[in-house]
Amino acid sequence: MDQNELKRAVARAALAQLVDDAIVGVGSGSTVDLFIDELAASGRRFAGAVSCSENSTRRMRGHGIKVLDFNEVVRSGEPIPVHVDGADEIDPGMCMIKGGGGALTREKIVAAAVGRFVCIVDRSKCVEVLGNFALPIEVIPMALELVCRELRAIGATPRLRADFITDNGNLIVTAAGLAISDPVALESEINQWPGVVCNGLFARRPADLALVAAPEGVQALTARHA
Ligand code: A5P
Repeated sequence: MDQNELKRAVARAALAQLVDDAIVGVGSGSTVDLFIDELAASGRRFAGAVSCSENSTRRMRGHGIKVLDFNEVVRSGEPIPVHVDGADEIDPGMCMIKGGGGALTREKIVAAAVGRFVCIVDRSKCVEVLGNFALPIEVIPMALELVCRELRAIGATPRLRADFITDNGNLIVTAAGLAISDPVALESEINQWPGVVCNGLFARRPADLALVAAPEGVQALTARHA
């Protein structure tokens, strides 16, 4: 099975997690693109979706899926029992690095409003310690150099993602070279820096369930506590 087949297998497996007639949270990225396709083809009854990126919104609308306004949903108090999103890395505590596609801020906003976060990945994304994947950080353009300086001070190598503007009109800086032993602390620290909109550590609000695709099948994992 190639990586795309693994992504499709896990995207399909995620359908079993959905709650009938409820709103579904839909993340972003190539695995989620396949989830959107599977969702559209599934015939499942659901009340519409909230979206984490312009790309996911376009893809859903292309399939005729109703994309709801996130603020309207929150204001209405209507629950979003399940949210399905990918990750760039996930550790045994279900903490993740996300944002490879630059959609981390909207992904984090939606994740804060949902019941269960179901992370869909192939096995290559499972790591013991986060940080091999350079951590994406969304930064207001004026703060670029300041944030890069802060990153160097904690031992990271920052790099501006070239020719990329987020859906919110900001920049993405990636931080390489971090072995992230305390993802909750680092997520909180980086979020304190002026000009940082959001960083790609999802540790304060980790996934509730990871569906992990491997050639032998899709495995369901929850947090492993030491
Ligand atoms: C998008 O910004 C990301 O958080 C994605 O969820 C993550 O990068 C995983 O993407 P793939 O499914 O494309 O690997």
